[in-house]
Amino acid sequence: PRCVVAVDGPSGSGKSTVSRRLARALDARYLDTGAMYRGVTWAVLRSGVALADAAAVAKVAEAARLESGTDPDAPTMTVDGVAVDAPIRGPEVTAAVSAVAAVPAVRRLLVARQRDLIAAAGRVVVEGRDIGTVVAPDAALKVYLTASPAERARRRSAEDAADEAATAADLARRDTADSTRAADPLQQAADAVVLDTTGLGIDEVVAELRALLAA
Ligand code: CDP
Repeated sequence: PRCVVAVDGPSGSGKSTVSRRLARALDARYLDTGAMYRGVTWAVLRSGVALADAAAVAKVAEAARLESGTDPDAPTMTVDGVAVDAPIRGPEVTAAVSAVAAVPAVRRLLVARQRDLIAAAGRVVVEGRDIGTVVAPDAALKVYLTASPAERARRRSAEDAADEAATAADLARRDTADSTRAADPLQQAADAVVLDTTGLGIDEVVAELRALLAA
């Protein structure tokens, strides 16, 4: 049967790992909406248009052919036929993605595509910043994951093999950009279950979410 689980929260809250594991456990698909914003950002950087030129950025987004692979064991992102899984996690895209994601026309476009992908998948765990509030307000379960800033920086810098202080600064910058932008800012849905994952293992978080779904 159809079942949509919305997982929102800031960077390093454990969204990706938890969402993939939950999707696997539910025999569902996994949609990483952040990868779509990152894919558009990759296309924008490649095109050479100025990040501050919202109309030009929106044009690049409209022209980009995005393909999201939704297998929770091997999610993929392809833009204009190029597998961009590695470059979309790189520092250039990470530095530019919040600006691209703040363009209302980019959000309208990606939210519409995300809704199509969700409808096609039927059973799907969707992670992002606006899933419970905008993309899938009718989700069966909405989760908002958090963790302390220090723990988030620790997790993310370990994943990226990056400097922890630099990662903490980048997360703080994106937290502010993502939660203060005018269009679809990161916020908790009124009916979201808020889970602070500081000090919790992945198994514990996934078990908690499965219990909530079964309830
Ligand atoms: O994995 P991480 O938390 O670092 O970021 P992500 O989930 O890949 O998302 C990258 C960026 O895309 C975020 O910082 C937001 O600016 C934007 N984003 C968004 O605006 N809305 C979403 N549903 C997902 C991501």
